[in-house]
Amino acid sequence: MKITAFAGSNSKNSINKQLVTHTAHLFQEQATQVLDLNDFEMPLYGIDLENEYGIPKSVIDFSNILKESDLLIISLAEHNGAYATVFKNLFDWLSRVEGTKGFHNKPIFLMATSPGARGGSSVLEIAKGRFPYNDGPVIDTFSLPSFSSNFNSETGITDTALKAELDAKIKNIKTQLNS
Ligand SMILES: Cc1cc2nc3c(=O)[nH]c(=O)nc-3n(C[C@H](O)[C@H](O)[C@H](O)COP(=O)(O)O)c2cc1C
Repeated sequence: MKITAFAGSNSKNSINKQLVTHTAHLFQEQATQVLDLNDFEMPLYGIDLENEYGIPKSVIDFSNILKESDLLIISLAEHNGAYATVFKNLFDWLSRVEGTKGFHNKPIFLMATSPGARGGSSVLEIAKGRFPYNDGPVIDTFSLPSFSSNFNSETGITDTALKAELDAKIKNIKTQLNS
């Protein structure tokens, strides 16, 4: 199973990147790649720009990576209750690629974390409701609240119940996708 994971953030110290990287490795699949949105530079989406210059190569490259994957793991940063700009921009560009509304019908394990107690629940709900309209079936979700209290960079999730919840979800997804 080929896994592609990334955070909806462009922060160098992204907590969502830490969470998504940790989670991707828990799947213990050989073909796992963690992308960084900073490696895919693209202009701010605009219809005039698209009409004049077409879709940027970085967007096509990103879209092709999604197309070649069997599972996407995405952990979204929450900014003002919604997507961080870097992710919304990527999402809008991806939705303009020919042949897909965005995610190529690849199953998505959707996650979010934040420093606060709600763990990015607002952006998680937005994405959970929206992604299916963009060829992105969300097969499960996981929110990690209060990141700094519940995550350790060496051992991962420290809260026993949250760790058990994530482990169970991973096991279930692996069973679903390998059957
Ligand atoms: C402009 C801005 C808006 C934010 N809005 C929210 C918010 O609505 N809810 C929340 O839980 N955290 C919010 N935060 C805090 C982020 O959750 C925090 O910066 C987190 O580290 C972002 O994830 P990242 O590290 O993966 O980029 C906001 C941060 C910024 C800079």
